[in-house]
Amino acid sequence: MQFTFSTAAVAAVLLGSVSAFPRPFARRAAVSGAAEGFAQGVTGGGDAAAVTPTTTDELVSYLGDDSPRVIILDREFDFTGTEGTETSSGCAPWGTGSACQIAINKNDWCTNYQPDAPTVSSITYDKAGELGITVASDKTLIGEGSNGVIKGKGLRMVNGVSNIIIQNIHVTEINPQYVWGGDAITIDGADQIWIDHVKTSRIGRQHIVLGEDASNRVTISNSEIDGQTDWSATCDGNHYWGLYFTGSNDMVTLKGNYIHHTSGRSPKVGGNTLLHAVNNYFGPSSDHQFEVGSGAYVLAEGNVIESVGTPVQDPVEGQLFTADDGSACSASLGRNCVANSVTNSGTFSGANTDFLANFSGKNIASAEAASAVDSSQAGFGKI
Ligand SMILES: *[C@@H]1O[C@H](CO)[C@@H](O)[C@H](O)[C@H]1NC(C)=O
Repeated sequence: MQFTFSTAAVAAVLLGSVSAFPRPFARRAAVSGAAEGFAQGVTGGGDAAAVTPTTTDELVSYLGDDSPRVIILDREFDFTGTEGTETSSGCAPWGTGSACQIAINKNDWCTNYQPDAPTVSSITYDKAGELGITVASDKTLIGEGSNGVIKGKGLRMVNGVSNIIIQNIHVTEINPQYVWGGDAITIDGADQIWIDHVKTSRIGRQHIVLGEDASNRVTISNSEIDGQTDWSATCDGNHYWGLYFTGSNDMVTLKGNYIHHTSGRSPKVGGNTLLHAVNNYFGPSSDHQFEVGSGAYVLAEGNVIESVGTPVQDPVEGQLFTADDGSACSASLGRNCVANSVTNSGTFSGANTDFLANFSGKNIASAEAASAVDSSQAGFGKI
């Protein structure tokens, strides 16, 4: 994390006129690096003066208002309890064992989709987790060091917002016991979103979800999806609901992320989504990693897949290219694709190449050899 200080602010501090500034000195936070791949060019709040919220209300207000903003998180924002609790019925589709998640009967999900599951008469959960904080266009949200934590509530970029950077924060503890307890990061109808060096952990439902509307150009980089949990849909300490990319016209660059202790849907791809999964570290996973549904176009290159029983779930209904012959990329990407490294895992293989034409003319992330992937650099507190 780097900060630059205006000469005027530094001079004022040196001259002792500190009282002119609400904080010790006015600071401009700098985004570290720049988005690579599809969201290249995103500027977020640009050079707006930085604000440093101190309460959950202030954070919500800065994220949701109409001004371009650079918002610095220098502490933990704990939303648990801020909206009270809710009690509802639910179900236990995966059993009632202590390591199993149970599901809230949200929108009659249990009634409609799990009619045979044992019912749970009463689930009390934290209401703040249900719906993430609305993030408006032209925002940069950056954590300072390893201080920027949002607990108990996620972030929501919906209804056509664009130009947002979220960097170096940790979103955690969103009703992890309960399916439908809340998502960490929701993008559903957006453009030019960059999620970088973000960690998500202990989430009820989806760690990152790109919903049905077109989310256009998205880059998710250097982030950590930490699926370790006490309650899982597979009852084994690994979270099932990892990454869900099913927008109607989405281009997602997924680069340099560490996606571990999951048991499914990490990612699930469908809708009409072009996914470039490059230089990620996947694993361990107790079940499957990729789901390639109808409408998914997935190029996976330069990834490490380590201790993943089923790297891709059967059947592959969309298109998947695992870069076994890298030269097939050269016409559309302008370079050869890089081989994945698959160890102590099942087979990871897909030979569809027709969709590579979709990459032509787009901003395409570079790829290093899988041997250069370093999972310890992903997540928050690392820049
Ligand atoms: C991929 O290309 C096909 C065929 O040109 C097009 O219909 C589809 O919308 C493209 N999808 C994405 C996500 O780029």
